[in-house]
Amino acid sequence: MSRLSIAIDGPAGAGKSTVARQVAGRLGLTYVDTGAMYRAITWKALKEQVDLRDEQTVSRLARETEIRLTPGKDGMEVWVDGERVTRAIRTPEVTSHVSLIAGQQRVREVLVDKQREMASRGGVVMDGRDIGTHVLPDADVKVFLTASIEERAKRRYRELVRRGYKVDWEELKEEIRIRDEKDRNREHSPLRPAEDAVHLDTTGLSIEEVIRAILDLSRSKVGGVE
Ligand code: CDP
Ligand code: CDP
Repeated sequence: MSRLSIAIDGPAGAGKSTVARQVAGRLGLTYVDTGAMYRAITWKALKEQVDLRDEQTVSRLARETEIRLTPGKDGMEVWVDGERVTRAIRTPEVTSHVSLIAGQQRVREVLVDKQREMASRGGVVMDGRDIGTHVLPDADVKVFLTASIEERAKRRYRELVRRGYKVDWEELKEEIRIRDEKDRNREHSPLRPAEDAVHLDTTGLSIEEVIRAILDLSRSKVGGVE
């Protein structure tokens, strides 16, 4: 069981990180949030005021950056060059610039290398946009999580309000729609399901129901889980 690899992809707010973290916890696997890695590079590039469109500079910055993901009390902690950036990478400013960075092939190559290194001994649940199609094409379990845009925006809205942000519902919905569109239509590793991915529409499903469905899939792969 400990070497199983599970790939979870899907659009923003589908519930990937919430369920991936808990599936990893229950199966004793390591959770890798690849979106946090793209956010971490975006955060650093904004901080250093580099030209975000300059692919060579941004990819060099990505190569020189140490990103660490560690388990925390309420989820993952994210560290950039030793500095904790868990909250800083979730600001609207980072969110609105991340697809620009994620669209750059050379930046992706640097991060995909790091992701494959993290998964090299198996035993991971990795979530993102291109995990089943590109990062881990041989993953044992591939899941493509979706939910209606209304539902995904509602989830994100509640989460942001809970964390103390003031949010405009229409703006939030539009931000998610635009980011999904960019992720789906970009040239390099666009968001799409792997041919062998299991599709799971989570609209109306609780977190626990989604976790159960993924545990069942994992069990069918290896047998005897739990
Ligand atoms: O949490 P949320 O769904 O808002 O996004 P995220 O998973 O933190 O990812 C942020 C952005 O990083 C996405 O909108 C993609 O542009 C990019 N990303 C990517 O291109 N490839 C991945 N494997 C993961 C994230
Ligand atoms: O990682 P991704 O952007 O796909 O979504 P997430 O950050 O895991 O989930 C967004 C929000 O939706 C979180 O606050 C989850 O608690 C919530 N959620 C939910 O209400 N029902 C689900 N079935 C999955 C997630």
